[in-house]
Amino acid sequence: MADGNSETKSSNQMWGGRFASGPDAIMEEINASIGFDKKLYGQDIRGSIAHATMLSHQGIISAEDKDKIVHGLNTILSEIESGQFEFSRRLEDIHMNIEARLATLIGPAAGRLHTARSRNDQVALDFRLWVKEELQRTEKALTGLIAAFLDRAEEHAETVMPGFTHLQTAQPVTFGHHCMAYVEMFGRDRSRVRHAIEHMDESPIGAAALAGTGFPIDRHMTASALGFAGPTRNSIDTVSDRDFALEFLSMASITATHLSRLAEEIVIWSTPQFGFIRLSDAFSTGSSIMPQKKNPDAAELVRAKTGRINGSLIALLTVMKGLPLAYSKDMQEDKEQVFDAAESLELAVAAMTGMVRDMTIRTDRMRAAAGSGYSTATDLADWLVREAGLPFRDAHHVTGRAVALAEQKTCDLADLSLEDLQSIHPQITAKVFDVLTVEASVASRTSFGGTAPNEVRKQIAWWRTRN
Ligand code: ARG
Repeated sequence: MADGNSETKSSNQMWGGRFASGPDAIMEEINASIGFDKKLYGQDIRGSIAHATMLSHQGIISAEDKDKIVHGLNTILSEIESGQFEFSRRLEDIHMNIEARLATLIGPAAGRLHTARSRNDQVALDFRLWVKEELQRTEKALTGLIAAFLDRAEEHAETVMPGFTHLQTAQPVTFGHHCMAYVEMFGRDRSRVRHAIEHMDESPIGAAALAGTGFPIDRHMTASALGFAGPTRNSIDTVSDRDFALEFLSMASITATHLSRLAEEIVIWSTPQFGFIRLSDAFSTGSSIMPQKKNPDAAELVRAKTGRINGSLIALLTVMKGLPLAYSKDMQEDKEQVFDAAESLELAVAAMTGMVRDMTIRTDRMRAAAGSGYSTATDLADWLVREAGLPFRDAHHVTGRAVALAEQKTCDLADLSLEDLQSIHPQITAKVFDVLTVEASVASRTSFGGTAPNEVRKQIAWWRTRN
C-alpha cells in the first residue's frame, strides 16, 4: 500500500470531498493517531465484521458485498499480523488505514462498510473492546499475585515478625498475617476490575456520529456478536463516554499504589539493617562499583511505575474535564495514557508476583526483631487488666514504668526479674512471663481477623475458595 508522501497535497481520500487540498504537514502530525492506535487493529476488524454481518442480515447491504468485506478484512488481519501491512500517517488512524486497504482489495463494496456508523462509535467500540480485554488480563494477573501471597502466608502462618505503626515496632504479628493484608488489598483491586468489566459491558456500535441512524440496524445483534451484555442506551453519551478508560486508570492507580507500598516494604526488608528477606538473584541486581551490593531494582521500579500510572489517570481526567458532548478530537488522547498504564501495570504485577514467590524469608531475623522494642508491652497491660483487675488506663501506666525500668537495665520486658516487676506492681505473679513472649502474644490475638496463626489460617482458607 502506498504511503503516498508524494501525494500529501491531495485531499484525504476518506473524507476529502469538500477539501481542495491536503493537510499541512504539521496538521497531519498533530492529527494522526496511527502511531499508537494501530494496536486496535484486531478490535477494529472484529467490530467491522460484526457490523457488516448485521448490515447484511438487516438487508442494508447485499450478502455478496458482506462476503467480500469479511474476506477482505480477514486478509488485512493476516497482512497486519505477518508484518506486511504498510500503515500510512496520511490516513490518520487505524480505522481509515483498514478501510482504505479494503477498498484496494475488494473495490467499491468496501465503501458500503461505513453505512450506519461513524468513526465516533467505531473508536468507542474498538477502545472499549481493548480495555475490556486488558481488564480480563489484569484480573488473571492479580489472581496470580494473590495466589503467591496465599502460599507464602500458609508457609509462614506461625512466623513471628514485628508489626509496625509509624514504622516503629508496635506489636508482634505473624508474617502470614502481614501477607494476608496484601491479599485483602489485591482482592479489593480484583473486585474493582470485575466491577469495571460489568460497567463497561455495553456495545457502542450503532450510535453512529452521535444521533443514531435511520437505517434499520440491529444493535442487539452486534452487541451479542461482540460479546457485550447489550447495546448502550443513549447515542450521545455513547460517543462522549470514556468512563471505561477512566475506571481502568482509577483501578490501575489504586493497584499501583498498593504495589508501591509493598515495593517499599521489600526495599526496607531487604536492607542489611532489617534483613527480613533475601531477594532472589533473579529479581535483584549488583552494583558496578560495590561488589557487596545486591539492589532491589525490581521493587524500586515497581514503586516508580506508580508515578506513571497515576499520571495517566490525571492526564485523562484533565483531557475529559470540560469537554462538551459529544465527541471531540481531544478524546484521541485517551489511548496512549491507557496503553502506557496497562503496560506498566502488567509489568509491575508480574515482577511483584515473581519477587513474592522467590524471596527468602529470614525467620530468625524476624523473630529477633519481633522480640525487641518492648513489643509485648500491650500484653503486659492486658494481663494486668485480666489477672489483677486493673482498669486499662492504670495498667497502661504500670506497664510504662516496667518499660522504663527495662530500658534502664538495657534488657527486654521478659528479662526483668519477678522482683523487678513486683516492685512496680505487687499483684504481678510469675504467670505474667507466659504472656511476655512474642509467640504467646501472637497466639493470644484470636479476635476475628487477628494475627493468631489459627485466625490467619481461617482467612487463608476463605480466600482459597474465592479465586
Ligand atoms: N482517531 C480518532 C480517535 O481516536 C477516531 C475518531 C475520529 N472521529 C472524528 N470525528 N474525527 O478519537
